[in-house]
Amino acid sequence: MEQTFVMVKPDGVQRGLVGEVVSRLEKRGYRLVGIKMLQLTREMAEAHYAEHRGKSFYNGLVDFICAGPVVAMVWEGKGVIAGVRQLMGATDPAQAAAGTIRADLAVEMGRNVVHGADSPASARREIALYFRPEELVSYRRAGEEWLYE
Ligand SMILES: Nc1ncnc2c1ncn2[C@@H]1O[C@H](COP(=O)(O)OP(=O)(O)O)[C@@H](O)[C@H]1O
Ligand SMILES: [Mg+2]
Repeated sequence: MEQTFVMVKPDGVQRGLVGEVVSRLEKRGYRLVGIKMLQLTREMAEAHYAEHRGKSFYNGLVDFICAGPVVAMVWEGKGVIAGVRQLMGATDPAQAAAGTIRADLAVEMGRNVVHGADSPASARREIALYFRPEELVSYRRAGEEWLYE
């Protein structure tokens, strides 16, 4: 089954939105297979956002993501990578579709509550950055026969 990496950013943790983010993904039907709270070091943040190195917002982004604890997660499900991106909404909350996490819970791009991997390659890379294989569990959620045809 497809897996993706999701993170509740420091703003989401400080604003008490961990449960809300988890709840939206759970209700869609996705399976939470790994979760941990951690304080990112600058080195981890730079590895996480390596693709953005050199951009105008990069330093601010690294400062922000290290400014408090985050919740890192791995979610599993059919089409979960694109599905989570859809539930998150556009990067800029002002442009995000109503009903998405970022539209409903955030105002500005640099405080947009949640991160989600954007491709299978990013998902694999990010999962490996945060989790050892033995930290992920394999199970079926009750009632999956009512979720999948
Ligand atoms: N122009 C920008 N100004 C400020 N912050 C930005 C900007 N572009 C992106 N960011 C921040 O960097 C994060 C990573 O950017 P990106 O990968 O493009 O978006 P996404 O998180 O939607 O995948 C965004 O979630 C946002 O917090
Ligand atoms: Mg991205």
